[in-house]
Amino acid sequence: MNKTANQLLVIFGASGDLTARKLIPALFNLYKEKHLPENFVVLGVSRSDLTDVDFRKRVVLENEHLKKKSTVEDYGLLDAFANKMFYEDLGMEYDTSYELLKKRISDLNTKYDIGGNYMFYLSTPPKIYEAIAKNLSDQDLHDESEGWKKLIVEKPFGYSLETAKNLNVGLQRYFKESQIYRIDHYLGKETVQNLLVTRFANSIFEPLWNRNYIHHIEITNAESDGVEKRGGYYDKSGALRDMFQNHLLQIVSLVVMEPPIGAGAEEIRNEKVKALKSLRIMKDADTISKHTIKGQYVSTTIDGQKVKGYREEDGVDPESTTETYAAIKFFVDNWRWKDVPFYVRTAKRMPRKVTEIVIHFKSPHHAIFMDAGTSTRGNKLIIRIQPDEGILMKFGVKVPGQGFKVERANLDFYYSSLTETHVMEAYERLLLDAMQGDATLYARADEVEAAWEFVDPILNYWEKGENVNTYGYSAGVWGPTNSDDLIEGTSTWRNPGKNLADDPGFCVIS
Ligand code: BG6
Repeated sequence: MNKTANQLLVIFGASGDLTARKLIPALFNLYKEKHLPENFVVLGVSRSDLTDVDFRKRVVLENEHLKKKSTVEDYGLLDAFANKMFYEDLGMEYDTSYELLKKRISDLNTKYDIGGNYMFYLSTPPKIYEAIAKNLSDQDLHDESEGWKKLIVEKPFGYSLETAKNLNVGLQRYFKESQIYRIDHYLGKETVQNLLVTRFANSIFEPLWNRNYIHHIEITNAESDGVEKRGGYYDKSGALRDMFQNHLLQIVSLVVMEPPIGAGAEEIRNEKVKALKSLRIMKDADTISKHTIKGQYVSTTIDGQKVKGYREEDGVDPESTTETYAAIKFFVDNWRWKDVPFYVRTAKRMPRKVTEIVIHFKSPHHAIFMDAGTSTRGNKLIIRIQPDEGILMKFGVKVPGQGFKVERANLDFYYSSLTETHVMEAYERLLLDAMQGDATLYARADEVEAAWEFVDPILNYWEKGENVNTYGYSAGVWGPTNSDDLIEGTSTWRNPGKNLADDPGFCVIS
């Protein structure tokens, strides 16, 4: 276990949803598992008028998200954990003098012997990130002459390529790039990290991991939920910004990247940037319109229950054309991947929650078992990111009896079969890494910008292009019925489950 230095975590936006839902439960697990350093305190900061006691109640003692996951033994630990929480009210604005905040930080630093190591977690709307960074640096809270200082920022990292660049420049004005940690919780998932291990700790996959053996690659990220209470945010964002630009392109970069020369943060991140830069950017309207599908869920009935359409959700414009489904076909312009199509889709209100990568291998060059139907069915490697985390390999076996009839068989590995140890949740793992100064699983500025370079033209076309169609699909089906048209040849999307609604609800919304 790596050593974690004593430190103070300052959470901006501490009265918000993320703190109670993700950050505090993650910290509690780290506390339980004895990963937190001896001297560790949290200072919540926001504009709500709360005392330390109120804050402790809100995020620990009366936090439903924490309680839901806690066992009876955990209850005994909650009081001691809550006592590590403090709160500072910033008043009306985040953009204000941090003189009092500095004083509070300094008092906690002395009292708890923190050694001047401060981590600032920005869980506020991104438009005030830069102001917060400036106000911290005005009080020398970025200065590392005594203890280290780190800044963690939540997504979205910008709204477009231009705003992402501005944000990077804005933050780098006050903090060095090496102090900035851009969190993408998909990189905290064990199975996403396992992609690196599958590829680079085995000798059987990498020789096949290229255009000579792979026919195409498919990545699906499906959620069964709709936009829930986040309609207001989502309507201005859409699936491309919310999931594709960050989480899915992170997965893509791990699939596409070349072997790094070592497992260090910069070595891995350099290869990821190279991978993202090799995605062929679609510039003209014709290519984008042929290679993308934009969809939105419409209302339907599932098991006799009416399910709302996207436009009926709270906070959503009743005439919205924001996408809740995005499917993109693209190519990677490098030696390894030339001419291999990649198909990536993400959507809300699908039949089930599932994220998986499917590597479709080419069929054998010379098919000798013609009657078996295998010539059109190559091997598949399915990497299940969530749920049922694991890896499934599909291959042909002989059916017992006369002749050479070939059937598909599965070699299936489930993570759950080997985990006796506690598997950290994404936020736990990422927070602990940042506490220890390991940025491997955090996105670097150039990585984020490379992802935006690819996404920007698609967004522009979808938002401003002529004759852009938004296709309707019933909540509970695998997207618009024309989504298979995106896939070359006779292949279709691998839909892991049945449609929940009988009526596909296919329509052109706009
Ligand atoms: C978030 C998106 O980043 O990821 C949400 O903003 C989405 O819209 C969520 O629901 C999905 O995360 P997970 O870990 O549940 O797949």
